Amino acid sequence: MTDHVRIETAQGIMSIRFNRPEKKNALTQAMYAAAADAMMAAAEDNAVRALLIAGTDDCFTAGNDLQDFLNNPPQGESSPVTRFLNALVRTQKPLVAAVEGVAVGIGTTMLLHCDLVYAGENARLQLPFVNLALVPEAGSSRLLPEMLGHRRAAELLMLGDMFDARRAVELGIVNATCPDGNAYAHAYERAQALAAKPPEALRLTKELMKRGQREMVRDQMQVESALFAERLASPEAREAMLAFMERRKPDFSRFN
Ligand code: COA
Repeated sequence: MTDHVRIETAQGIMSIRFNRPEKKNALTQAMYAAAADAMMAAAEDNAVRALLIAGTDDCFTAGNDLQDFLNNPPQGESSPVTRFLNALVRTQKPLVAAVEGVAVGIGTTMLLHCDLVYAGENARLQLPFVNLALVPEAGSSRLLPEMLGHRRAAELLMLGDMFDARRAVELGIVNATCPDGNAYAHAYERAQALAAKPPEALRLTKELMKRGQREMVRDQMQVESALFAERLASPEAREAMLAFMERRKPDFSRFN
């Protein structure tokens, strides 16, 4: 149980909101578990016609909690993060996201599994896995090259710099930008439009669009997560995460 995720269902829409603003909504195992459980419950509930994922008014999420990464590294298929990612990949319900502020790491990779994504004009996205001496997750090491071509994916995954909402729209990661602070309302309105559609036709349309992709993503996620676990235990990753906590630049010069 955690109050760091707010779950509400109204008007056919289940909204799942990360709510840990003092830590930029960094995701702990308890938060992944709460979000995964909500998505599993939604799958069984005909009253839920669409899912909406968001953060707080000025922050989506700074990604996995780095302290948690060091203290409780995710282990295997039953880990909360894997359950959350599997729920995102498998859901047959329409999935909408509203992004304000930062969307880092899984904050960006989860968007690759959403059907519609809206972002505040000043939203900033980042895939800093290499910077943390990790590897990409959530199937992003395959989804992004397929979506963008190798070079644009390499820019995001190998350089790992922040990019803005306008660039995210150009790349096709975000559908459209909204004035800051309006992404949730806009995404909610789009989710309502989806919730009013004939559900079976909508479900089948999503299934047709995802046909073949789920197996590929599942397979890639297994390879990624085995490497990710190895990387988390590496001295390089320890240096990267300690540097973040000690608010200094990491020094990778002693590694080969
Ligand atoms: N894990 C744990 N704590 C985090 C965090 C994370 N991923 N991201 C932010 N926080 C914490 C900070 O340690 C800080 O806590 P403190 O006030 O107790 O010191 C608080 O949240 C605010 O963060 P801060 O860095 O001061 O905010 P900012 O606006 O200057 O920068 C970010 C925001 C997101 C750019 C920056 O926090 C960051 O780079 N975070 C790490 C992101 C990351 O690497 N995620 C993992 C991806 S796999």
